[in-house]
Amino acid sequence: MVLSTITRPAAWVRCSSSESASTSTSRKSTPSAPARPTGNPIDIGAKLGLCLCLALSTPTAALASEGASEALFENKCAGCHANGGNVLAAGKSLRLEDLQRNQVAEINEIYSLVYSGKGKMPGFGKDCAPAGQCTFAARLSDEEVSGLAEYVDQRARDGWN
Ligand code: HEC
Repeated sequence: MVLSTITRPAAWVRCSSSESASTSTSRKSTPSAPARPTGNPIDIGAKLGLCLCLALSTPTAALASEGASEALFENKCAGCHANGGNVLAAGKSLRLEDLQRNQVAEINEIYSLVYSGKGKMPGFGKDCAPAGQCTFAARLSDEEVSGLAEYVDQRARDGWN
């Protein structure tokens, strides 16, 4: 928590300064010879670094990307909810009919349930309590829980196809 608030802005600053440096050089060199490598390993390295830097920094912003939520779902939820099912509680699957009947069809309702847990489902939110109702594994950030709630909502609307 403390770590991420300190490192994130620093990484971003580094990122944006290398961005402006390398875009200004690449603008000049690319139009004349786009296919031929210029043979400057430092330049190539800088561009690669820029790509990686942007790829790593964007998903940590407010919206967890869909791909990140999908991976999180596979990792944290699919053990009990593969293909939107529920191996522990029949009638409480992640299919739209069940979500609607059980009053968890709204994104904020899914968010609360995933955050705090219910019955045999552990909560994953960072301030989930009491501990016995919560996962013993690493907790998820609020952004990750939001991303998962949106992911479940979307998949439910698509019929988990
Ligand atoms: C240990 C198994 C387990 C894991 C892991 C688990 N769940 Fe659940 N989940 C359940 C159970 C059991 C219920 C039924 C809870 C109740 O209402 O009693 C449930 C219910 C739900 C519901 C409401 C379904 C309905 O129709 O009422 C949603 C949404 C949900 N889980 C999402 C998730 C997400 C997202 C994750 C991953 C972060 C997750 N679950 C991880 C077991 C699990």
